[in-house]
Amino acid sequence: MRCIVKGGKPLKGKVRLAGDKSLSHRAILFAALAEGRSEIENLLLAGVTQPMLAALTAFGVEWSLDGQHLTVEGKGLQGWRDPAGVIDCGNSATTMRLLAGAMAATNVSGVLDGSAGLRRRPMDRIVQPLQKMGVAIEATDGYAPLLISRSQHPLRGLEHELSVASAQVKSCLILAALVADQPTRLCEPGPSRDHTERMLASMGAKIQSILPETSGKGYQTWVEPLAQPLRPLQMHLPGDISSAAFFLVGGLIAPDSQIEIENVGLNPTRCGLLEALEEMQATLAVEETQAQGGEPCGHIRVQSSALVATAVMGERVVRMIDEFPVFGVAAAYANGETCVADAQELRYKESDRIARLCQELRKLGVEAIETPDGFRIVGKGKLSGGVVEAHGDHRLAMALIVAGLGSQEPVIVHGAEVVSESLPQFIPFLQSLGADIRCEMDA
Ligand code: S3P
Repeated sequence: MRCIVKGGKPLKGKVRLAGDKSLSHRAILFAALAEGRSEIENLLLAGVTQPMLAALTAFGVEWSLDGQHLTVEGKGLQGWRDPAGVIDCGNSATTMRLLAGAMAATNVSGVLDGSAGLRRRPMDRIVQPLQKMGVAIEATDGYAPLLISRSQHPLRGLEHELSVASAQVKSCLILAALVADQPTRLCEPGPSRDHTERMLASMGAKIQSILPETSGKGYQTWVEPLAQPLRPLQMHLPGDISSAAFFLVGGLIAPDSQIEIENVGLNPTRCGLLEALEEMQATLAVEETQAQGGEPCGHIRVQSSALVATAVMGERVVRMIDEFPVFGVAAAYANGETCVADAQELRYKESDRIARLCQELRKLGVEAIETPDGFRIVGKGKLSGGVVEAHGDHRLAMALIVAGLGSQEPVIVHGAEVVSESLPQFIPFLQSLGADIRCEMDA
């Protein structure tokens, strides 16, 4: 599918988004690990969450959906059964890495596989520490498919230092640590999202996050083996700040715009983009509302703003790890040179986001320079039209569509169907705010 965006139209109105992707994955999975019925509202129904739901069925856990309301009949850690076939994780690394941890905790055997894109995502980072814990898991030269067999329980609690900050790796190991013989301590170089810790703690697990000021050595997570079954989950999921990001940047760069994104998750480990946009002199207001299931949330308002360049590096990188494609677009519309460093991990996402973002922005006349661990973008307050490609990456597709919202000439995005991986309503939402976008199937 290609989308033709004709920029220059004001965006006005409100958007309310489906539940956060990371929270949706965790809610589905942790509900299946609990004992009893969980009720989850505002679940994200999209390409990336389908494989997690299908996996529950394969492991013998029953669930039902009524709109975006999910009911899961949790079976506890002893109640999962071996799946009959290979588990297809689709394009979702979160599904694969979290399921590997859950399979270790429930002691089932099976094979995790996925799309060609997922087979290119590194899996050694979970396989090696899981093996140290005593889990019988093998990768295929460091990549999927992953073969997991029943292992000797309890697993071994360990001290493990993650070489890159990663919530997926941390969450995988936290799940295995729930059935270890002693507490596990995980140490990360940066503050990766802490949704697993908050959600499992609300279900009765004993998990503690220790900041560098207290630990004296990195961001630490302390996990105690479970003393009793996980309690079922009752939660209304806040909207996804990583999806809100596209509307926020759209509202900043389209002329005469004023939009509000309602009920968005505002977990501090996810708010790096808001800080960066404020530094870029974005007119942006956040109104905090009541927390939901231990997750801060609120409404965010933006209006068209003349942006200036900024720099992003260090611990903020991990707190906006999914937002760099659209941040790159904001940088192109800003005045001055924006610099991103310490972000090498972007090369291991749904695409090599450093290479692909720079390559596609250059097609729109932007001076975008790749560096080993980031990029530099020389913003001129505008970009030209052009024809670009999504490279099978949902966030790159949405960022490039947003790029068209402020452009004088049309921007045509090929491969745009991939937006349905995380935000199937993206185009209709933008249209409802007033954007001029037409999408058609490729001939
Ligand atoms: C996610 C963590 C991040 C993020 C991904 C979702 C999660 O990946 O990029 O979209 O739900 O835990 P890493 O933890 O591997 O950086």
